Amino acid sequence: MSERSAVPAIEAANLSRIFETRRERTVHALRNVDLTVPRGECIGLLGPNGAGKSTLIKILTTLLLPTTGRAMVAGFDVARDPLSVRHRINLVSGGDSSGYGILTVRETLHLFARFYGVSRAAAHQRADALMEITGLGPKADTRLSNLSTGMKQKVNFARGFMSDPEIVFLDEPTLGLDVEASRAIRAFVSGWVRERPERTVLLTTHYMAEADELCDRVAIIDHGRILALDTPRALKRSLPDESSYELHLGGTPPPTEWTHHVPGVRTAFQHTHSATGAVELHLTVTDDHVIGEVLSVLKGMEVRVVHLTKREPTLESVFVHLVGRGLDEDDVVAEA
Ligand SMILES: Nc1ncnc2c1ncn2[C@@H]1O[C@H](COP(=O)(O)OP(=O)(O)OP(=O)(O)O)[C@@H](O)[C@H]1O
Ligand SMILES: [Mg+2]
Repeated sequence: MSERSAVPAIEAANLSRIFETRRERTVHALRNVDLTVPRGECIGLLGPNGAGKSTLIKILTTLLLPTTGRAMVAGFDVARDPLSVRHRINLVSGGDSSGYGILTVRETLHLFARFYGVSRAAAHQRADALMEITGLGPKADTRLSNLSTGMKQKVNFARGFMSDPEIVFLDEPTLGLDVEASRAIRAFVSGWVRERPERTVLLTTHYMAEADELCDRVAIIDHGRILALDTPRALKRSLPDESSYELHLGGTPPPTEWTHHVPGVRTAFQHTHSATGAVELHLTVTDDHVIGEVLSVLKGMEVRVVHLTKREPTLESVFVHLVGRGLDEDDVVAEA
């Protein structure tokens, strides 16, 4: 291992960022974040809207200064030596405008590679490979201004890898992409980081499946704080011993109040699909045998159970356990 590759890819200590908004509201976008990411890791920041994910990425990619604390990327201080950091990293931001509308996809990728001093031959080769992976091949000679939003996002993504960075920051890399394109991108990222030991990925997402599938470790972030940081498996194992079930019900069931009278039911949430009218009941129970009692109560109420599945814990369950609400549920608690 060379001397430089022994230095962690990212080292953040006590990072905070406060925004003073026009209406004199103080927003604590990041609060005392400590984070060390060794080389070779794919780390995910998982959190709801406004959690502070992009703020952390902006600080680490030298686009924003922290209010307090210090961050080193590739061994260089982001505030004191931003150029050294920039030479070694790249950034993909979901929803970013991808370049100059007048240029074609191929021209854009070549141009950005030239900005990083990549040789013409290497740029050609990388652009072809990245266009193939993202499915942009047929659009290689189309101007950016004529691309759909999803295709522009694919250009953003491809651009981020043209410089063959040591450390790549992906802020919502699959935002607005269809299932197939997202899958191709995840497969590429996973292969890319494993191909060479010194490569590192930090990605943000609010898709728990993306974090789970791709990341060696996941930081769960909310209100600017890292609440938990571990492998997806360890995070899920940290949940209290309870089981989750999903039941699809036939007919119109009564409101979930009846579940209060079934011993062992911890939580119950009922949801009617607006399109199909099907009713789903989500339950967490202290023990699997409780579900037998639930079924007999439903039978007594003449509610048919069309389908029953036991759900394995997900990173979403971890998030709910830590903060008491789902990743996509609005936060009703006022900012402290
Ligand atoms: N330039 C800014 N001025 C004022 N407030 C800001 C600014 N940028 C971010 N914030 C606030 O900081 C907090 C964190 O925002 P950030 O963009 O980091 O969240 P995020 O986790 O990336 O969310 P999302 O999932 O929506 O992208 C939010 O409350 C946001 O409104
Ligand atoms: Mg963001």
